[in-house]
Amino acid sequence: MREISVSELNLNPYEKIGKAWMLCTAGTEGSYNTMTCSWGHLGCLWNLPTAVCYVRPQRYTKEFIDREEKYTLCFFPEAYKKALGYLGSHSGRDGDKVAEAGLTPVHADGYTYFAEASLVLICRTLYQAPLKGEFFRDEAVMDKNYPNRDFHDLYIGHIEKVLVSE
Ligand SMILES: Cc1cc2nc3c(=O)[nH]c(=O)nc-3n(C[C@H](O)[C@H](O)[C@H](O)COP(=O)(O)O)c2cc1C
Repeated sequence: MREISVSELNLNPYEKIGKAWMLCTAGTEGSYNTMTCSWGHLGCLWNLPTAVCYVRPQRYTKEFIDREEKYTLCFFPEAYKKALGYLGSHSGRDGDKVAEAGLTPVHADGYTYFAEASLVLICRTLYQAPLKGEFFRDEAVMDKNYPNRDFHDLYIGHIEKVLVSE
C-alpha cells in the first residue's frame, strides 16, 4: 500500500460508510479485533482531519478500542462484502473470525489493517463519549435505534495516516 494525504481523498461517505461498510479494528499482533461498521462520519474538528465511529457496549472490539491509542478504518472492494457481512455478524469472542472471513491482517506499530483493503484510515482516538438518552432531541430516533438503551460510544479519531492499495 502507499501513503497519500487526506486532501487527496476522494470518496463519498454515504456510499463508502453507509452502503459499502468499513471495518473498525484495534489492537495488534496476538491481540486485536475487528468489526463491521456502517455508521460513522468523516470531516474536520479542532483543525484536524477526523473520523467518528459508533460502537455499542456489547461489541468485543470496544474493549480493544478503549485500550489502544489507535484504531483503523478499512474500506474494501465490493468483492469483500460477504466477508464484511460475516465480520459484522460474528464476534471475535467466539473464535478467529478474521481467518473465517478470509482476510489477511497486517500488524503495524500499534494498529492492524487488512491487506485486501483498498483504503485504510489510521486514527488516534482524541475523544470518546457515550451517547446519552437525556440528550436526544428526537425520541422516536432513540426508541427506534435503542429499544434496549444500549447507547453507542462515539470515538473521534485524528486521521493520522491514509493508505491506499497500489
Ligand atoms: C452492515 C453492518 C453494520 C454494522 N455497523 C455497526 C456500527 O456502526 N456500530 C456497532 O456497534 N455495530 C455495528 N454492527 C454490528 C457489529 O459489527 C457486530 O455486532 C459484530 O459481530 C461485533 O463483533 P465483535 O463482538 O467481534 O466486536 C454492524 C453490523 C453489520 C452487519
